[in-house]
This record gives sequence, structure tokens and C-alpha cells, in this order.
Amino acid sequence: MVEDSQSMAHKLAIFGISGRTGRELAKAASLKGWEVRGFVRPTSKVQAGAVNGRIVRGNFEDVDRVIETIADSEAVCCMIGPRPPYTDVFCATATAAIIAAMKQTTCKRLVCQTGAMIGPAPNRSRPMEWMARVFAKWQPQSAEDREEQERFVKSSLLEWTIVKPPRLTDAPPQGRVQANSSLRVGLLSTISRADLAAFIVDEVQTGRFVRQRIFVKG
Ligand SMILES: NC(=O)c1ccc[n+]([C@@H]2O[C@H](COP(=O)([O-])OP(=O)(O)OC[C@H]3O[C@@H](n4cnc5c(N)ncnc54)[C@H](OP(=O)(O)O)[C@@H]3O)[C@@H](O)[C@H]2O)c1
Repeated sequence: MVEDSQSMAHKLAIFGISGRTGRELAKAASLKGWEVRGFVRPTSKVQAGAVNGRIVRGNFEDVDRVIETIADSEAVCCMIGPRPPYTDVFCATATAAIIAAMKQTTCKRLVCQTGAMIGPAPNRSRPMEWMARVFAKWQPQSAEDREEQERFVKSSLLEWTIVKPPRLTDAPPQGRVQANSSLRVGLLSTISRADLAAFIVDEVQTGRFVRQRIFVKG
């Protein structure tokens, strides 16, 4: 259980807060004065206090825990994704659970991160398109899971944004992010998780890309 808060700070719920982007996002949001609450699975190695935010532990099937994470939040960010060897197929059902829970709260804003190689995209370079096809052949269930995740978000009737980065790095922030729905991305495109986190906090606040599936790069 999380403690009740009397704080008037804006509240942000982060699913995948124990991941590398999730942690950066929690840090960036906290620096901007947001109060962060994060959801992690019971087996997550993350310790309370290791992330900038309060932790709710649970499974996505546990509706009460998912709602508890979202309750009173102005926005939800979904930063989940499979860990190596990328065989876990859970993103679509987890995202459906988040969306269903959001509909039981007043929170309408959802920012969901997938990847530049997910689903159709005429703006990918030819080598990256080839790589996306290799990935879909190598891990068909995982590729389909991520496409299904995007479909669930797009049909949610929420104020959604899908953020699609190319390769993520842990480099220091450059303070420069390009973003739009037809941004050219290739195998050399990257973005640092720190820049991405700052971009997502800004997007949560401005809603510049509501109901858009946007590509981002540094
Ligand atoms: N790595 C890249 O270069 C790259 C490129 C483009 C897009 N992306 C996408 O960007 C997002 C963030 O990537 P990242 O590399 O920063 O993430 P990450 O460090 O790999 O963290 C993944 C997060 O998902 C959670 N997770 C993994 N498997 C789970 C499961 N079976 N059930 C519940 N939660 C689970 C992890 O929780 P635990 O702590 O419990 O494991 C963690 O919070 C992901 O959607 C990823 O696919 C990554």
C-alpha cells in the first residue's frame, strides 16, 4: 500500500519505474515538482528508496493495485518492456489493464513508450526496416505483442501519446530531442534515456502530441 498524501503536487503514475527509462522519468518528473508513484511486479529487484517515487508492488491482474497506482494522478506513463532475452509477452495485456484501470479513475492522459521498430512505419530507413523485419521473424510473439499494445492505446479513447524511440542510450542529456509522427529514423539514430525522460515530462505537461504516434531521436 502507498501512504496517503496530503500534498498538492501534480501526481504522475509510472509503470516500469524500475527500468532504465522509468527511473530517468521518475527523476526528471521529481525535479519538475511532480509527485511520482510507480508500479513494479512482485519479483522486481528494485528497492523502495532506489527510485524517485513511491512504489506499489503487484501483478497487472491485480486491478486494485493498478488503480491504487493511478488514483489521483494527472497522467500515466507506461515504460514497460521485456528484459533480455526479450521472450516475455506481456505488454499488450499489461497496457490493457492500465487502460481499464484508468477508466475507473478521472485520469485521462496516457503516454506509452514502445519502439521505432514496432509496427508499420514508412519513415524508417531501409536498413532499419530490414532490421524490424528480422526482429519480427526472430521474436514474432514479442513483435505482435508490441503492435497489439499500440492498438490498445490508440483505441482507448484516452488522451494518449505513443512514443517510439530508436536505440536508447545511457549517455548524458544533450538537451535536444526531435519528435514527430514521420521523423526519419535509421540504425544510427539514438536518444539518451535522460533526454527522453525530459521530453516525456514536457509532453505530459503540454499535450503537444495528444492522439499521435510519434518517433523521437536525439
Ligand atoms: N533498449 C532499447 O534500446 C530500446 C529501444 C527502443 C524502445 N525501447 C523500449 O523502451 C521502453 C523502456 O526501455 P528500457 O530499456 O529503459 O527498459 P528496461 O530497463 O529494460 O526496463 C523494463 C521495465 O519493464 C519491466 N518489465 C520487464 N518485464 C516485465 C514483466 N514480465 N512483467 C512486468 N514488468 C516487466 C521491468 O521491471 P523489472 O524491474 O521488474 O524487471 C522494467 O521496469 C521499453 O518499452 C523498451 O522495449 C527500448
